[in-house]
Amino acid sequence: MLSNNDQKEILRRRTFAIVSHPDAGKTTLTEKLLLYGGAIHVAGAVKSNKIKKTATSDWMEIEKQRGISVATSVMGFDYDNYHINILDTPGHQDFAEDTFRTLTAVDSVIIVIDSAKGVEAQTRRLMEVCRMRKTPVMVFMNKMDRDGKDPFDLMDDVEQELGIHVTPITWADGQGQRYTRSFFLDSADADTLPQETRDLISIYPEFSEQAYLAGDLAPVFYGSAYKTIGVQELLDFFVRYAPSPRPVEAIERKVEPMEDNFTAFCFKIHANMDPNHRSCIAFFKICSGRFERNVYYKHVRKDQQMRFSSPTCFMAQKKETVDEAFAGDIVGLPDTGNFKIGDTLTAGEVLHFKGLPSFSPEMFKYIENADPMRQKQLDKGVHQLMDEGVAQLFVSQLNGRKIIGTVGQLQFEVIQYRLEHEYNAKCRWENMAMYKACWIAPLHPGEPEDMEEIDTFKKRKAQYMAFDKEGRDVFMADSAYVLSMAQNDYRHIVFHFTSEF
Ligand code: G4P
Repeated sequence: MLSNNDQKEILRRRTFAIVSHPDAGKTTLTEKLLLYGGAIHVAGAVKSNKIKKTATSDWMEIEKQRGISVATSVMGFDYDNYHINILDTPGHQDFAEDTFRTLTAVDSVIIVIDSAKGVEAQTRRLMEVCRMRKTPVMVFMNKMDRDGKDPFDLMDDVEQELGIHVTPITWADGQGQRYTRSFFLDSADADTLPQETRDLISIYPEFSEQAYLAGDLAPVFYGSAYKTIGVQELLDFFVRYAPSPRPVEAIERKVEPMEDNFTAFCFKIHANMDPNHRSCIAFFKICSGRFERNVYYKHVRKDQQMRFSSPTCFMAQKKETVDEAFAGDIVGLPDTGNFKIGDTLTAGEVLHFKGLPSFSPEMFKYIENADPMRQKQLDKGVHQLMDEGVAQLFVSQLNGRKIIGTVGQLQFEVIQYRLEHEYNAKCRWENMAMYKACWIAPLHPGEPEDMEEIDTFKKRKAQYMAFDKEGRDVFMADSAYVLSMAQNDYRHIVFHFTSEF
């Protein structure tokens, strides 16, 4: 049974991610939030996942930084009776898939936008994931201390580019060098604004908690993370309105955070960079109830009871062993290959959480064994790395060749290096011209006409068909044209761009 106290613990949790296009100010804002929470005491203390620009081609350096950043993957702190968990996301776009998965573990999101640049490419993609999951979103227009776009243009930009209704909550008093403060629009300070500005502001819908929670309306804040202006307003509003842990859909049923029994899913596995210790940390988001150290839980996929003697939670930059954690929290479980992304832990129930989609990769290469004596090592390494979510494996239905799909070039280098150093296996890459992999399914499953069309499609396109790791049909389109022709010609087939449909 959850005690009153346990319930209070759950209700006071706010688990979210800050996302942005690189350089918009995510790290700076995170740091300022931590300062408000008293979790750090000096600016410059956050060694985030941020990857130095000079190191973009040096992935070893990137991995090293990612290694260092385990401790900052989740930053927990208390503020005003709330317990806040900020989940860090990698800035480098080659790790976009990590970010997408992290978004499955948060209850809300703050989007940071550089007010000189407006909405940028990566923000658009991240917003698509939020929209898919109906994640509540707040927007922080950063760098108001610089000459940037007009505040109204910025809001239009967000509305159009991100496809979400917006309403300003705070306003910037001046911009560029004249910018000194932000104030709430429902405060007396708003009366100092010119009538024309007030008229324009009044066009926006009033803030509605319900619309925000439904993911339909984004409250907008103006500020400067660097100068620490407008940040406290954002934080105060955030803790008040951002959701406590939300229900999570499993295939079997919906799981409510206040349920008595513990449930959690794995959304991220962080490999240890030390090849001699092939240990990882599996990050679990607790969906319901209370987690306890040294208590047996069911690893659903393996149908095994497991207990954990040194689970960690993350307080600011420290990783600490914890005795208990609550719905909304992230626990890190030391792992030696037992877990893969999407795995569920429960108090005994058989549950499979939905919503850990794979995204259609954009770069593809055949993977070949470069050392015939070590085929087994290669197979094992490839499978484990795929379980960790480093990339996706497809198998050609025509000839059984293995294809690795990624969202960025770096992953190929990461895989090759790790295969060599952790599994003592060698691989070779063979380029393939491929535009996109998409999952195909009949428009109406079971409908004879649709099933027939799928069969015809698979026969005609046999050389472009592959299986994903679950054995599902994937169409590998070699150009945008081919894909759009296929979509046109086969109206009884749906082409999906995430594995979850
Ligand atoms: P990111 O994590 O989203 O990639 O961005 P980060 O916070 O690292 O910020 C990127 C750059 O923008 C940094 O400058 C940072 O100081 C600056 N910045 C962040 N917020 C503001 C703001 O409100 N106003 C202004 N004027 N600048 C801001 P840098 O030169 O790359 O690094 P640094 O030398 O300042 O550390």
